[in-house]
Amino acid sequence: MRRRSLSQNRRSDLTMKATVLITALLLLSNLPEATGVVQAIKGITRPLTKRDRAIPLIVTNNCPNVLWPGIASQAGDAPETHGFELGPGKSMNLTVGPTWAGRVWGRTNCTVGGDTATCQTGDCLGKLNCVFGGAAPATLAEFNLAGGMTGEQTFYDISLVDGYNLPLGIVYHPAENTSFIPPNLVNPTCIATAGFLSNPSQTGFTYTNDTFPMPYQPTLTNRELSDWCPWDLQVFPPDKPGDGVYPYPDDNIQRPVFDPCLSACASSHKPKDCCTGKFNDPDLCKPGLYSKYAKIVCPDAYSYAFDDQDSTFIVPLGGGWEVVFCPEGRSTNILATFSNELHGVASGAITPEILLNAMNVSFIESKTGAAPRLGSPRWNIVVFCIAMAYAMLLLG
Ligand SMILES: *[C@@H]1O[C@H](CO)[C@@H](O)[C@H](O)[C@H]1NC(C)=O
Ligand SMILES: *[C@@H]1O[C@H](CO)[C@@H](O)[C@H](O)[C@H]1NC(C)=O
Ligand SMILES: *[C@@H]1O[C@H](CO)[C@@H](O)[C@H](O)[C@H]1NC(C)=O
Ligand SMILES: *[C@@H]1O[C@H](CO)[C@@H](O)[C@H](O)[C@H]1NC(C)=O
Ligand SMILES: *[C@@H]1O[C@H](CO)[C@@H](O)[C@H](O)[C@H]1NC(C)=O
Repeated sequence: MRRRSLSQNRRSDLTMKATVLITALLLLSNLPEATGVVQAIKGITRPLTKRDRAIPLIVTNNCPNVLWPGIASQAGDAPETHGFELGPGKSMNLTVGPTWAGRVWGRTNCTVGGDTATCQTGDCLGKLNCVFGGAAPATLAEFNLAGGMTGEQTFYDISLVDGYNLPLGIVYHPAENTSFIPPNLVNPTCIATAGFLSNPSQTGFTYTNDTFPMPYQPTLTNRELSDWCPWDLQVFPPDKPGDGVYPYPDDNIQRPVFDPCLSACASSHKPKDCCTGKFNDPDLCKPGLYSKYAKIVCPDAYSYAFDDQDSTFIVPLGGGWEVVFCPEGRSTNILATFSNELHGVASGAITPEILLNAMNVSFIESKTGAAPRLGSPRWNIVVFCIAMAYAMLLLG
């Protein structure tokens, strides 16, 4: 269970290598239609492109500010654009091919001129239409539409592995043949910016419906969301009064509302923080403060390379996708609440028991009740005062 997503990643790596090999062989044998990765494996000769089936990829800006979403494609038929301006309340309807893999993120505070865009966060080498990924920190929506061994499942996740800049949600738009999937099992949101918390049942957004109550991170307050980012990882840390000499409890210094946060890896680039080199091992690479806090504020997002629970969502093929920046409500807590049920969703075998659990408020509450808390600022202050008193005693 613990390393399920990992082995799956490795398997999809292998699948990728195998398909590259097969594609190469097909190309060598002069088959004109050798690009359809999944079809190649299955021995079907015609590739699947957007013309066969265009998968909707909708990007929606629910933030109060203009955003410049960026998209990077790794496989399959790419969307119509990889970067564009998107005003508040606006959506962009794109389509991708059935085997597309890639990521979507939000760029902020861009200065745009022609085909260039210089952005404070998420910048992609100064281009409006991104060619590669964006700069950290950026909250990511990651997709592998035809993932897994057989290419018959879609893998997707929200990732904070490169840091966090904006609240983000992924909304699944089921196809007719996947409408049996309960919406509260597939629509994760990550909200870790103060001011975006609201009572989900009162917002106009329907990431689920009354029949299937969404499990949420139950405890976080706006106050906690304003200072979860470890002080040194803030991209725009506020000035500390008194040249930063005196105030220890960082928690009492007013931070900016827009407070993008680098992951430890994105900040230090050290193997220990990035789980690379000899730390490329789940037993050696442990979550640091950033990853622990990220997992608390966004339980359904990847917090570091060896996240200790499965952070990948898997659904059978079919349907389309919407990436929503600044969804309103609370962070979801789907993975921890429905870990067993999600195995059923992944295999497309939804039993009556799964449906009953997905509709059962007591079941959901029994799983989300004991949510971990961020360190309490008050407690830090008490420790600080005791330490100061002790120091004065020693000096005195
Ligand atoms: C974009 O897609 C949504 C949902 O499928 C649809 O309601 C809307 O009309 C589309 N907008 C445009 C401009 O095509
Ligand atoms: C930068 O962008 C963020 C997010 O869109 C916004 O909250 C903030 O006000 C912007 N800052 C400036 C100086 O425009
Ligand atoms: C809730 O969503 C499910 C799955 O999409 C659907 O079958 C059901 O009819 C919906 N219930 C309501 C009350 O809208
Ligand atoms: C739904 O339909 C699509 C397109 O026809 C197909 O590729 C997919 O396998 C189907 N999914 C399920 C769960 O039947
Ligand atoms: C709902 O969940 C509770 C707690 O897990 C369980 O005791 C109860 O039997 C469930 N009800 C249904 C109808 O499945």
